[in-house]
Amino acid sequence: MVESRRGASARAPRTNFESPSHRIILGDCVAEMSKLQAGSVDLVFADPPYNLQLKGDLKRPDESHVDAVNDDWDKFDSFSAYDDFTRAWLLAARRAMKPSATIWVIGSYHNIFRVGAIMQDLGFWLLNDIVWRKTNPMPNFRGRRFTNAHETMIWAARDENAKGYTFNYEALKAANEDVQARSDWLIPLCTGEERLKGADGKKVHPTQKPEGLLARVLLSSSKPGDLVIDPFNGTGTTGAVAKRLGRSYIGFERDKAYAKAAEARIAKVEPLPEESLAPFMTAREAPRVAFSELIERGMIMPGTKLFDAKKKLGALVRADGAIMLGDKVGSIHRIGAVAQGAQACNGWTFWHVETKKGLKLIDELRAEIRAGMGILE
Ligand SMILES: C[S@@+](CC[C@H](N)C(=O)[O-])C[C@H]1O[C@@H](n2cnc3c(N)ncnc32)[C@H](O)[C@@H]1O
Repeated sequence: MVESRRGASARAPRTNFESPSHRIILGDCVAEMSKLQAGSVDLVFADPPYNLQLKGDLKRPDESHVDAVNDDWDKFDSFSAYDDFTRAWLLAARRAMKPSATIWVIGSYHNIFRVGAIMQDLGFWLLNDIVWRKTNPMPNFRGRRFTNAHETMIWAARDENAKGYTFNYEALKAANEDVQARSDWLIPLCTGEERLKGADGKKVHPTQKPEGLLARVLLSSSKPGDLVIDPFNGTGTTGAVAKRLGRSYIGFERDKAYAKAAEARIAKVEPLPEESLAPFMTAREAPRVAFSELIERGMIMPGTKLFDAKKKLGALVRADGAIMLGDKVGSIHRIGAVAQGAQACNGWTFWHVETKKGLKLIDELRAEIRAGMGILE
């Protein structure tokens, strides 16, 4: 149980970053999350204790020590103590979540099945389980089992009927060369420069997660400006990535040294330029721009002609925003369809205007208007 475990008291002082939107709260996450405003959080990422149940030191065949997770924060007296703790922090996180918020919980075979069952019992609605496949896993030193080369992340909505949760489907697909993003992610463990080391050259934390993993989590299920929380802050990987991606962040950590290291790490992070973070919008999601707006803005003058790509057909632009081809008058879409003898036509991608540099699709003029509204396509 949380109460019987060693750690910072719930009244421990808060540490703040100079930016009010990124902070770490030192203390027990159950007590501290309960102080958050109910329904205020957009996304939770949680990397809870694994409850590895390691008995004694883990050694390689040559008797050298393996740097495994053997810290007090990972020790529970029994499975039922672990379950009680899991229930408590999940409930505290759920209370803080907006109805449209989602939660990610990462774990290994030691804990993830217990966590998943408890999540379902509490009413969370599982959306996916993501397999994080490690490119560089630690070998199985005794050769008695398979190499443990992955961890599982459960992604869940607050409840079954949750509406409007964020899933940046189109952006993920575009980033994946127009192929739907899959539930198995191949990402290396956190090593090299990214790994926080102390003055003694040793790892600051045994389970620092790779930023690449958190970037995928945040980019897929949150938006710039969202409030992201992590009940098990550790070295602040979630906070560092949140800051870089323009999200607000609150992390909870009961170990002072980890909280301090995380604070220093996050303070050094520069947010990416806003334009590189603007939400990806499909043509269907983008606000409607009427063809008449091109005329109102002087981008197309009444009396000019719109042409098809081969410039075989020319339709006259009327002052009222309709166009005319022969004796047929109608919208850019209807006249585009008439011109092709088709049932339907997207006039934006059919008609062109003549410029000094040649024909220009009227859809490009529409994109200029949308870009002026701060919307990138
Ligand atoms: C698996 S580690 C998280 C590592 C983190 N994702 C990172 O990338 O550095 C779990 C962390 O939760 C902290 N912790 C454990 N129980 C806690 C509790 N009840 N409240 C707050 N923090 C806790 C531990 O001190 C540890 O740093």
